[in-house]
Formats: sequence, structure tokens, C-alpha cells
Amino acid sequence: MSNAEISRALGKIACPCGLVGVKQGERHDLTTVAWFTQESSNPPQVMVALHPHRYVLELLDAAGEFVLSILADDQEHIATYCGSHSGRDMDKIKELDLATVPSTAISTPGVRDALANLECKVSNRYQSGDHIIITGQVVAAKVNSDKKPLLYYEHNIAHWGQ
Ligand SMILES: Cc1cc2nc3c(=O)[nH]c(=O)nc-3n(C[C@H](O)[C@H](O)[C@H](O)COP(=O)(O)O)c2cc1C
Repeated sequence: MSNAEISRALGKIACPCGLVGVKQGERHDLTTVAWFTQESSNPPQVMVALHPHRYVLELLDAAGEFVLSILADDQEHIATYCGSHSGRDMDKIKELDLATVPSTAISTPGVRDALANLECKVSNRYQSGDHIIITGQVVAAKVNSDKKPLLYYEHNIAHWGQ
């Protein structure tokens, strides 16, 4: 089986686009993610795959919490920016002039205009292949709109119905 065909087939997995946010002390980073999903209903838990080089993972390991923000169809610019710059070199929230909202159960704020913000406390961390799987219990959440989600499909950001 060719690697190219495996990659093409994996591209057929349609994912939502989101942001993993962590505030640790004075440092606050937002990283674009497509490899995430709900993985438990009782307790409610999500999982996200983060490459070990991600700055956000460094903050997450120290903070033990994160906010998973689900992006709306009209937020491609946020996904592109937060997915192509590292918080090691800049403050993405300042650069994008992103409004944040205080969370209710954890210290990391949410993204004000995201479709939904899921406040998570880290429950497990596994090394798997070339990514780290983080699972988090959703301890509070807020839905902000009923817009369509932004998607990731065929290895690119994609839009609902297109
Ligand atoms: C659409 C999109 C989806 C992405 N999905 C993931 C992902 O699921 N996991 C991951 O580790 N990186 C993912 N990335 C790459 C990171 O967002 C990117 O390397 C980012 O600049 C890391 O920032 P940081 O160093 O501030 O954490 C994605 C990038 C884009 C544009």
C-alpha cells in the first residue's frame, strides 16, 4: 500500500477546527487543532492530539487545564494564524486582537466569539505515534452561537457544504 494513498484516505476524515488555549501565569497561547473529538460521555471528556513541539503543550503540562474552543465557519483567519505561528515567538491573542471571556471553572479564559468553549481539566496524557494524546474532563462549557463549524478536510481548512 502506498503512503500517498494512505494519506489521501486519511484526508477523507472530516474534522472540525478548534483552538486549544492555555493560560499559565502571565503566558497565554492559542493553537489551532483539527485532531480532537469527544471520547467519553460520563464523565464528559474530549481528546486532542498535540505534537510534542507545540508551545501550547508546554503550558498545558504546567497548567493541567485547557480551553477547547470550537471555531465557526467565518473564523478561518484565526485558524490560519494560530496554526502557523508559535506562541514562543509572539502573543497571538494580542496580534489578532482577540476578545476573551473569563471561564467559570478554570483559570484559562475562552475565546469570546467561538461557537463553543469547553473548559477542561487534564485527565490523562499518552504518547502515541508522533503526537501526545491529551484527554480532558469538560468541567464547564458555553455555547455562543449556532453558526456552522469551520472544518478541516483533505488536509486543508474547508467550509461546510463546499
Ligand atoms: C488547520 C490546522 C489544524 C492543525 N491541527 C493540529 C493538531 O490537531 N495538532 C497539532 O499538534 N497541531 C496542529 N496544527 C499545527 C499547529 O496549530 C501549529 O504548529 C501552531 O503554530 C503551534 O503553535 P504553538 O507553538 O503556539 O503551540 C494545525 C494547524 C492548522 C493550520
